[in-house]
Amino acid sequence: MKKQITIEYEVYPSIEKLAEEDLQLMKQAVLARGNAYAPYSNFHVGAAVLLENGEVVIGNNQENASYPSGLCAERVAIFQAGAKFPGVAIKSVAITATSKNYAVEEPAAPCGNCRQAMIEYEQKQKQPISILLMGEKGEVIKINSLSDILPLAFNSSFLE
Ligand code: THU
Repeated sequence: MKKQITIEYEVYPSIEKLAEEDLQLMKQAVLARGNAYAPYSNFHVGAAVLLENGEVVIGNNQENASYPSGLCAERVAIFQAGAKFPGVAIKSVAITATSKNYAVEEPAAPCGNCRQAMIEYEQKQKQPISILLMGEKGEVIKINSLSDILPLAFNSSFLE
């Protein structure tokens, strides 16, 4: 037997074409990106989490001289959302990246660890979290659910 997994996602030519709620969230991610602490990689990432109660929680990457001790923007943001608003559902997460070394023209892709960290909340709340991805400008990708970009994910059901 063979099975196939396919995903559908939306591509917008620029941030201005996003619906108002997504546009405002991506703007917050851009602002957050400006405060990233990334002296080692020069890769600055911003994330903004929109909660069902309307609150927005931001994060950016926080690097460390001991490289593995740093943390990605997405996890800084989503853990802060969990810490500050426990039990409030997450609607969407906007992510954007820029670099001091080159022009980031492709939508930034969240790393595997961040996908795993974020899908925990999607599965807990039993409601999809949409993901908006952008480079420093240009095309924006909208993905409807974390499960689209982390199929066959490890989850709590394995731990009974
Ligand atoms: N980074 C993020 O913040 N998010 C990702 O999903 C990918 C990578 C950060 C981690 C590190 O500070 C820098 O980008 C280079 O890997």
